[in-house]
Amino acid sequence: MKIQKFRKRIGLIGFGCVGQGLYDVVEANRHLGWEIGCICVKDKEKTRSLPASAFTYDVQEVLQDPSLDIIAELISDTKEALGILRQALQQGKTVVSANKKVIAENLPELIQLQQRHGGVLLYEASVCGSIPVLRTLEAYYGSEPLVEVRGILNGSSNYILSKLHAEHIDFQAALAQAQELGFAEADPSLDVEGTDALHKLCIMAAHAYGLLVHPDDVLHLGIQYISSEAVELAAALGCRIKLVGSLKATPTGQIELRVLPTLIPETDALYDVEAEFNGLEIEARFAGKQFLKGRGAGSHPTGSAVWADVTATIRGYRYTYPKLCTSQATATSGNEQITVLLQGQSDRLAELQDLVQPANQYKIIGQSQVILSLTPQQLKQHESFLKQQGIFVAAIPESVALDIVPEKYRSEEAVPVGSL
Ligand SMILES: NC(=O)c1ccc[n+]([C@@H]2O[C@H](COP(=O)([O-])OP(=O)(O)OC[C@H]3O[C@@H](n4cnc5c(N)ncnc54)[C@H](OP(=O)(O)O)[C@@H]3O)[C@@H](O)[C@H]2O)c1
Repeated sequence: MKIQKFRKRIGLIGFGCVGQGLYDVVEANRHLGWEIGCICVKDKEKTRSLPASAFTYDVQEVLQDPSLDIIAELISDTKEALGILRQALQQGKTVVSANKKVIAENLPELIQLQQRHGGVLLYEASVCGSIPVLRTLEAYYGSEPLVEVRGILNGSSNYILSKLHAEHIDFQAALAQAQELGFAEADPSLDVEGTDALHKLCIMAAHAYGLLVHPDDVLHLGIQYISSEAVELAAALGCRIKLVGSLKATPTGQIELRVLPTLIPETDALYDVEAEFNGLEIEARFAGKQFLKGRGAGSHPTGSAVWADVTATIRGYRYTYPKLCTSQATATSGNEQITVLLQGQSDRLAELQDLVQPANQYKIIGQSQVILSLTPQQLKQHESFLKQQGIFVAAIPESVALDIVPEKYRSEEAVPVGSL
């Protein structure tokens, strides 16, 4: 029997921060003809804002309900989420998701499933919450070569860094504040170790450059080992430290991509992206630079991005991955020398210098900080060592004048070797 429908129906899987955000946005826009058809959650004991009859605990009730027009996968369990996306796409369904980890780690398969079975998967909310990043890269810049895409992609770590600079507190205190205000998870490792930003970067790479790259192959270092000395030194150089994810086309056709803490000078558009905000600078070959800034997380901002996807599907919108068809791009961390600040125990720093044998000069800033030149590929090669030894790394852009490093940051025993 054909079910007579008056409204488009959404099957919602997950009713946490983002799921509830989507619910509110749909309710506020009922005049547009959509409704939440059913909601699947996991915990039967949890107190809910809706009557128990609104919920199911069996995901198959959503996945196999023919009256639903679209499925919104908004759960925190990544393994289960991948199963949901696979099953929905194998059935040729339309599904939206915010799950950056699952998408970043499985994008080739998810694209193939869409091609094979005719389903649709949109995931705008997975990259920078409410900022329309993927739609901009895919639909607007789909046929213009991009020079560089770089940004602050994680609100929790940005909030912590802003606190470190503004209040001169230490990392643990700033993290505790971020957790109290709900800007950081109880387990903040994905945020502060740069993994969340890495997942977003890998998703952007597919849309910006037609590059499919697995997160494991990309250099990413976080802010978990940052010290107040590093923050002070950055401030003395007129900079703020930000966790920056970047994608850049090289003259040889490779795409350089990495997530690295970076000293950002006042003249840089990212300098004023503070607290929990995200910001993205897109430089296109002909259009020049453009800048997007907004809320990268949170219930309503992220719910709004999911809603934008839901309503776009009904107008026939789907990702076409325009640059995947034309691009031969390969990924690299980067072969060009960059200048980095390293901070950690002096014997560990010495060990690292033995390992990387910096071809160029380095200058000892103090016993626990050095500045030297190396390639991002060398950082990638020694990524595990850096993480195991608790070494904080921050890139220093060429535009930052190092000759103004104040004397007080150079210890008595410091032995400047060459100059930068
Ligand atoms: N929070 C943000 O600002 C944000 C921003 C961008 C993207 N995202 C992404 O959005 C997704 C959801 O995040 P969230 O912050 O909304 O998580 P959350 O607040 O922890 O909520 C997770 C929801 O998923 C449900 N769930 C977990 N495992 C399930 C299972 N096996 N079957 C059915 N339901 C299950 C939970 O059910 P119970 O209610 O029964 O526990 C809960 O309702 C994640 O992929 C996250 O990375 C979040």
